[in-house]
Amino acid sequence: MIVAPSIIAADFSQLQKEIKKVEKAGADLLHLDVMDGVFVPNLTFGPMMVEAINKMTDLELDVHLMIAKPEKYLGVFIDAGADWISFHAEASNKTDKCIRFIRNHKKKVGLAISPGTPLRKLTKYLAKIDFILIMTVNPGFYGQKFMPEILKKISEAKSWLVRHHLPCSIQVDGGISHKNAEDVARAGADIVVAGASIFKSRDYKRAVHDLRCSKV
Ligand code: DX5
Ligand code: ZN
Repeated sequence: MIVAPSIIAADFSQLQKEIKKVEKAGADLLHLDVMDGVFVPNLTFGPMMVEAINKMTDLELDVHLMIAKPEKYLGVFIDAGADWISFHAEASNKTDKCIRFIRNHKKKVGLAISPGTPLRKLTKYLAKIDFILIMTVNPGFYGQKFMPEILKKISEAKSWLVRHHLPCSIQVDGGISHKNAEDVARAGADIVVAGASIFKSRDYKRAVHDLRCSKV
């Protein structure tokens, strides 16, 4: 199981220290939640912060764009150092164009899907992307409660990918902790994103370890 700490839950006044701590704790990726206050009712940071974080770590940056019209910003986030980029299928009517753009820049391309969006909206893209980001909370804030009803969507996605022999990975994001990591692994998740369950824990190494051991 790949573990991607979501830094939105970190103490931003000690950001560099927090990043070093999760590196030491065994993080595989760093998940950066970009929010524009339009697509989601919260505002976080832009490419400048991604660029600064890129200087703080050698971890690959997994940039989750919760922004309207992502097609306008892909270039600046790639220039800032994004290695993985996911954008919301609900936020753009230029999905194929975005996928091509990210691919042409040799970055990992992901399509994110909010809880209210049925999987069938995305199946036509699954052969063209590296990962699908299945939200297990409504996007916008960390520390929210995991939505167990999304487990069905995860297993639906997994069986679709197996049936069509596609290498696309499944990333799950939102309210993930040791309490549900086993369930999402069993449903087919390959990558777990976790904010509060890591950064609000007393032992980051333990938190990352508990999430990773979930691969059944
Ligand atoms: C929510 C974000 C998630 C979230 C993860 O919109 O995409 O990455 O911050 O944090 P937790 O694990 O606390 O839900
Ligand atoms: Zn996220």
